[in-house]
Amino acid sequence: MVVGGRGGPAKSGVMRTRVIPQQVIARKRDGHALSAHELEGFLKDYLDGHVGDDQMAAFLMAVYFRGLGDEELDVLVEVMLHSGRVLERGGAGAPRVDKHSTGGVGDKVSLVLAPLAAELGLVVPMMSGRGLGHTGGTLDKLESIPGFRTDISLTRFDRILREVRCAMIGQTEEIAPLDRRLYALRDVTGTVPSLPLITASIMSKKLAESLDGLVLDVKVGEGAFLSGIEEARALARAMVGVGGARGLSVTAVLTAMDRPLGRTVGNALEVREALGCLAGGGPGDLREVVTELAAEMALAGGVVADLAEGRRRAWEVLAGGGALERFERLVVAQGGSLTLSQAGYGLPAAPVTRVVAANREGVVAGIDPHALGYGVIPMGGGRTRQDQDIDPRVGFEMLVAVGDLVSRGDPLAVVHGSSRDDLFIGARVVHEAVTVADGPEAAPLPLVLERITA
Ligand code: URA
Repeated sequence: MVVGGRGGPAKSGVMRTRVIPQQVIARKRDGHALSAHELEGFLKDYLDGHVGDDQMAAFLMAVYFRGLGDEELDVLVEVMLHSGRVLERGGAGAPRVDKHSTGGVGDKVSLVLAPLAAELGLVVPMMSGRGLGHTGGTLDKLESIPGFRTDISLTRFDRILREVRCAMIGQTEEIAPLDRRLYALRDVTGTVPSLPLITASIMSKKLAESLDGLVLDVKVGEGAFLSGIEEARALARAMVGVGGARGLSVTAVLTAMDRPLGRTVGNALEVREALGCLAGGGPGDLREVVTELAAEMALAGGVVADLAEGRRRAWEVLAGGGALERFERLVVAQGGSLTLSQAGYGLPAAPVTRVVAANREGVVAGIDPHALGYGVIPMGGGRTRQDQDIDPRVGFEMLVAVGDLVSRGDPLAVVHGSSRDDLFIGARVVHEAVTVADGPEAAPLPLVLERITA
């Protein structure tokens, strides 16, 4: 219910009535559907500073438990999208296509995909997020490259898009600022794994990019926010629906997150691995997911006839080194520097490392992405408060994959830490994450599970 109170002039100059925040929170807590007026008022009052972070956190928790109806979701998407600007269709005139992931552990796909898709003939105006919950964020990974700026102006973003055809930024105050604030709040209040909140967060950013096509990487498995296949399908359908209703063609690809993607977890370590993939190497699982998503982007942009051609062209580009060169151009354009001729590419490296060995023989039956993702946080590689800086150097380099046979004493992983305490914490995390058993347990999920379109 919307009640009196002066809400200050709305854009039209008409006074907006303010909601009573605790009443809106209580109604959502009790499972009522909020009217468009009520929800819009609550969200706008938050933006205006009349609803506090404490009240918004309580509201997000209520949504986590009660969900949102279709109309409420629609209001959330609209208010988020129009809390900022919608980008103009600048760029090089080529189709504008982006991809976004629902969040995973070891997910460095965007770093490879943006320059790869640009090489395939697309413009990729990529707007990414920071670490969220147990998952890493593309922005945090990029910022481990010395000098790299993700907070560039939209004018510079547009210029880079024209010159390099891909650019990677975070949300400025100008783009979906409501999502930016809610994202940071959700990260530290345990309210990330919510279908409507993820849907609105992703789609508001992507709709602001003025795209011709969008590919979503919807993660499935223990390391995903919504781990079950049915939940992942529902999330994919919700996002495809929100895009479709606004004229944006969206394809969702469900990919496995029952183990980390690639071999590294931790910001600078993941950039290093992504560079390996851009150079035509890197772990096979990362290459497979990258290739599939690149093929989907190319198809969405109409630069290939079918997925088979898209996959083939993506392989060729990776093998030929064109995507790596384009990534270097992107890094320089965004103020960063890499030394590709050096072993560590000029990325920050942890001062101490420790090899963690198996304490029994058997089969690696599972690698728990959740444990590794959360394990980076106490070593300083992720946040427990919104305003924290992170240490890009720390993390895990896995030396085994699910299904490998190990003997007692064989190395399982290398922990990269900033102190001896980190190494101790990290070793415990590795033992918790890696299950060595007498035989294989559940078979790992296929890497690419399903494709969902309108
Ligand atoms: N990525 C986003 O941008 N938002 C979410 O809520 C989850 C993943």
